[in-house]
Amino acid sequence: MPPRTTVVGGCGHVGLPLGIAFAEAGAAVTLLDTHAGRVGEVNAGRMPFLEWGADAALARALDAGRLTATTDADCVSAAEVVVVTIGTPVDEFLDPKVRTFDRAMDDLRHRLRPGQLLVLRSTVYPGMTERLIARFRDSGPAVDVAFCPERIAQGYALKELYELPQIVSGGSPAAVRRAKDLFRLLTPDLVELPPREAELAKLFANTYRYVNFAVSNQLYLIAQRHGADFARIHAAVTHKYPRLGGFPKAGFAGGPCLLKDTMQLAGFNHNSFPLGQAAMMVNEGLPAALVDFVKQTRDLSRDTAAILGMAFKGNCDDPRDSLSYKLRKVLTLECREVLCTDPYVADPSFVTADEVVRRADVVFVGACHAEYKHLRFRQPVIDVFDFLPARPDAARQAA
Ligand SMILES: NC(=O)c1ccc[n+]([C@@H]2O[C@H](COP(=O)([O-])OP(=O)(O)OC[C@H]3O[C@@H](n4cnc5c(N)ncnc54)[C@H](O)[C@@H]3O)[C@@H](O)[C@H]2O)c1
Repeated sequence: MPPRTTVVGGCGHVGLPLGIAFAEAGAAVTLLDTHAGRVGEVNAGRMPFLEWGADAALARALDAGRLTATTDADCVSAAEVVVVTIGTPVDEFLDPKVRTFDRAMDDLRHRLRPGQLLVLRSTVYPGMTERLIARFRDSGPAVDVAFCPERIAQGYALKELYELPQIVSGGSPAAVRRAKDLFRLLTPDLVELPPREAELAKLFANTYRYVNFAVSNQLYLIAQRHGADFARIHAAVTHKYPRLGGFPKAGFAGGPCLLKDTMQLAGFNHNSFPLGQAAMMVNEGLPAALVDFVKQTRDLSRDTAAILGMAFKGNCDDPRDSLSYKLRKVLTLECREVLCTDPYVADPSFVTADEVVRRADVVFVGACHAEYKHLRFRQPVIDVFDFLPARPDAARQAA
């Protein structure tokens, strides 16, 4: 019988799909969240954000009576398993906000009872799991503590939760065994690590991706500076050449995880992480660099510029830490007017994509939403992603 489970932070981007997946596997799941608006939406059967395939799965879980959302923390003591999926952001110094997480864990500690399994699913600062294990050992209650990092790509959780192997770690053999039993509800493919290595594995994975994006973005900037087409070079060198299979295209590397996790790793290593810090400079500098290139051949001061896509990535409705906003800031200082559009991000100041096509003098692609593929532009388009169909006039790269 799947365990009665409470997901703390259960109406968030990680907690909600995970809670739905456990409910689909037969567990009775309570989603605890401090965000009353999201709790209301979930109980009404509406996803508070876009997650492909989740609407139907949420409806099924609610109809079966296996899922409910609440702001009432009493559900913590009623559960057999408590899974933590609250946010773990960095502060204005790019240091992890460890105290916020600690406070949340202290609140939780007073509600937990002996015999429960506590699973950390949030991406935590290395050492956090061992600290929690020690705190519970010294001050109780006697719970089993596990750390099982989330590795889904936002938007695709309800596919990937069943397809990706789960990394499992714990403070005792019992914690590991129980965490394995829990995640076996989703997949038989489990990989065990000690807690410190599991924490580093999660950070390494996101950092590796972030650094790889920076490599492509740096090479894009070099190509651009010397009048070469990065996309054409990329297509040539990856064609039937498996050694470069993982060479990503250029593009904005924004969002709530990649930079944050790279900086967590830097913080953990006493801010000595030159590769990660260089990656940050390249990726975060890309919006301004694109505008600088355009300015070499064009006076932007009388132009209406437009940004196509404000979410942090394509086919997604999440604007958190999207580099499109950084681009908007740069363009606002340079241009007469800046238009923003996004079919998924609700903002009354945004215009339609048709208005962008009609009114903009120059267009920047900010997020690769599938809806943009069919648009046809007469004006120059800066498409760092090489996402839009190629144009015969080749005005895509250089405005
Ligand atoms: N978003 C992703 O794709 C993704 C992928 C892998 C890992 N992660 C990690 O998962 C964690 C959560 O990220 P997210 O994107 O789901 O964040 P999120 O902000 O979407 O969700 C967090 C939820 O926790 C709630 N919350 C905050 N404090 C709470 C508390 N004390 N009690 C109850 N609820 C509380 C918030 O209201 C919110 O709904 C982070 O550590 C993140 O790094 C995220």
